[in-house]
Amino acid sequence: MRPVIGGALLLLGVSSLPVLAGNGEVITKPPGRATTCTPCHGRNGEGQPARGIPRLAGLNAEYLERQLDGFNNGARKNRVMLMIASDLSNDERKALANYYAGMTTPKPETAPADQAVIAAGAKIAATGDPSNDLPGCGQCHGAAGLDAGANFPRLAGQSALYIEKALRSWKAGDRKVDPMGVMANVANKLTDDQIKSVAAYYESLPVAAPAPTPESRP
Ligand code: HEC
Ligand code: HEC
Repeated sequence: MRPVIGGALLLLGVSSLPVLAGNGEVITKPPGRATTCTPCHGRNGEGQPARGIPRLAGLNAEYLERQLDGFNNGARKNRVMLMIASDLSNDERKALANYYAGMTTPKPETAPADQAVIAAGAKIAATGDPSNDLPGCGQCHGAAGLDAGANFPRLAGQSALYIEKALRSWKAGDRKVDPMGVMANVANKLTDDQIKSVAAYYESLPVAAPAPTPESRP
């Protein structure tokens, strides 16, 4: 079934099933509202790469909460997420952020991008574009685009379409959640081709660090 926005919004009024918080605690009373999110973000927070709907699973809890607060107060402009977030209490936003942060959902299958495009993106991620004072993305987002803390969201395995959209929204001035405004500065330096290649690169990365092999364990 193809989820429709109207249907999803109708669900907002419905009280929901118990959900697990990030710490494994069962939330049996509101804010158990994750059923509202599943038509778009998927049952396990995997997102919908083909529609540019972001993956939420495994993103940092503080980051997710900051984004929900940002949709609610208009610092991050998105019509759908404004309606969703403004219907949630502060406690519900926190509980949902913890819930998705605790998920270790595998990456949905996507058609692999052209290897040359991915390689061009890997270069931007590693070294940026010195001719244009563009820092490498990895300086803030981590070498593998994973787990760089509350300020720098995980990019590994995020959908390319969504990453492209996010970078364009900074160019358009529609995203002002980070207090230092660093991403607007980064995005404004990126050409369309660079946006496409760096987005394809991050989509291609695994969503979790590989488990340590016996030899690599201390
Ligand atoms: C009708 C579809 C829809 C529903 C329902 C929905 N979302 Fe979203 N969500 C989106 C879209 C589209 C975006 C991307 C917005 C943008 O481009 O800025 C998004 C973005 C987000 C983000 C930002 C992610 C990031 O990486 O920065 C968070 C957090 C989020 N949604 C949480 C939720 C939660 C929690 C719920 C349920 C209470 C929910 N959403 C319900 C469509 C939806
Ligand atoms: C100086 C540090 C810094 C550098 C360099 C940087 N970023 Fe970011 N990035 C951030 C911060 C901080 C945020 C969180 C912004 C927020 O909270 O809204 C972010 C968020 C993002 C997001 C949003 C993720 C999501 O889930 O919505 C994307 C996409 C992104 N960066 C891509 C890039 C790319 C691509 C590059 C390299 C071209 C890059 N960043 C370089 C600091 C940085």
